[in-house]
Amino acid sequence: MSGAGKPRENDPARPGEVAVPLPEATDAGLRFIGRIRTPFKTRSDCPRNILQSTAEGRVELDPNYALGLQGIEGCSHIWLLYWMHEARRDLLVQVPKHVDSPRGTFALRSPVRPNPIAMAAVKLLAVEGTVLRVAHIDCLDGTPLLDIKPYFASIDSIPEASRP
Ligand SMILES: C[S@@+](CC[C@H](N)C(=O)[O-])C[C@H]1O[C@@H](n2cnc3c(N)ncnc32)[C@H](O)[C@@H]1O
Repeated sequence: MSGAGKPRENDPARPGEVAVPLPEATDAGLRFIGRIRTPFKTRSDCPRNILQSTAEGRVELDPNYALGLQGIEGCSHIWLLYWMHEARRDLLVQVPKHVDSPRGTFALRSPVRPNPIAMAAVKLLAVEGTVLRVAHIDCLDGTPLLDIKPYFASIDSIPEASRP
């Protein structure tokens, strides 16, 4: 898999955080299918999540996958799955700045996780060939793209869902 970035296992953990040694990687056969272009050049420039983002981004799909876009112009919103290529991967307990006590990685939306896969439901503004213009993007410029799926309000919205 190309462009996997540089996981930062050597950054010091914050007090209360727990890092674990990572087992040898298995090859899931992932292929990056494009890149997401955004105004954000550093992680601290990025909005914390899509709700806090007013930014527009460009999803640049590799032309090899152009046929897969057929019908997408009918979607008002789409899911983007992307690879947080600059995140460390070894923390299982984290103390994010906005949370007051340690929390498990799988109870967080942090980019720091064994497989740094992120997801965002974004508004589809326009389809220009193999470029999708989208609104409410929260990732770094150049973030590798894993997948695109239609957002279905009938399936993907759970108004009564609770969270920690
Ligand atoms: C909290 S994550 C949420 C990501 C996604 N919307 C989700 O919920 O899965 C967003 C943060 O990840 C960081 N980030 C963005 N792009 C990244 C990248 N390519 N590699 C590592 N960290 C990234 C930024 O600090 C940004 O504020």
